[in-house]
Amino acid sequence: MMELPSREVSGVALSHDVQSQPGEIRIDPMTPGDLPLVLAIERRSFPTPWSERAFASELRDNLYADYIVARHGDRLVGYAGMWCILDEAHVTTIAVDPEFRGRGIGNRLLTALEERALRYGCRRMTLEVRVSNHVAQRLYLRHGFRPCGIRRGYYVDNGEDAIIMWRDRLDPPGPVAAEGEDAPRTGRDAGLQAGTEPATGAGAAPGGSERP
Ligand SMILES: CC(C)(COP(=O)(O)OP(=O)(O)OC[C@H]1O[C@@H](n2cnc3c(N)ncnc32)[C@H](O)[C@@H]1OP(=O)(O)O)[C@@H](O)C(=O)NCCC(=O)NCCS
Repeated sequence: MMELPSREVSGVALSHDVQSQPGEIRIDPMTPGDLPLVLAIERRSFPTPWSERAFASELRDNLYADYIVARHGDRLVGYAGMWCILDEAHVTTIAVDPEFRGRGIGNRLLTALEERALRYGCRRMTLEVRVSNHVAQRLYLRHGFRPCGIRRGYYVDNGEDAIIMWRDRLDPPGPVAAEGEDAPRTGRDAGLQAGTEPATGAGAAPGGSERP
């Protein structure tokens, strides 16, 4: 099994791609001390939020996981995470404080994940998104992700389907591939290879709950 490079890549300084920026946004690695604020956003963002234990386990035990937070001044306003395995990055979560949505912070978080994934040696990125989550889908489309398949009944709360999206050619500096540049992969219906899912729940989510 491949190990991630040192987490010393954390604290990557990003200087682009924040639109309608609410002041200075800083991207930092997520630490256990961030979890109370992460959980506050988590509970306002997902119908089946991850538990503190699930996040703590990701931070502490999962060598393939990389989680970041966005701060506006001292305020934690969003977070995101992924697993990097071989040359594939699998986005596990992304959320922004409802009061700060629509200001480019989700965009900034996704850009940061893409840049960090590249540094970890990943060349492609995948995620799942609810069929009904059009806001998130637009964010991913802007970043060059393309729908490639469906996971039927993926979300445990309502049995909703997930759209599987892939971004190939994870080239710097991040967004945004031109429309049609990344052709959809037909027939691709799996993200990570079998055996790389965590032992803690269904699908990609540590708590078996909703995630991209
Ligand atoms: C999805 C989410 C992370 C986006 O964060 P955000 O900070 O609001 O997003 P941004 O301001 O960076 O917007 C990025 C893109 O998202 C889309 N978007 C954002 N807000 C939108 C809205 N109200 N309506 C339609 N599209 C929207 C747009 O494509 C936008 O780019 P554009 O403004 O150039 O069109 C945020 O809405 C969120 O936390 N949602 C709840 C959790 C969730 O659904 N996570 C994703 C699970 S798959």
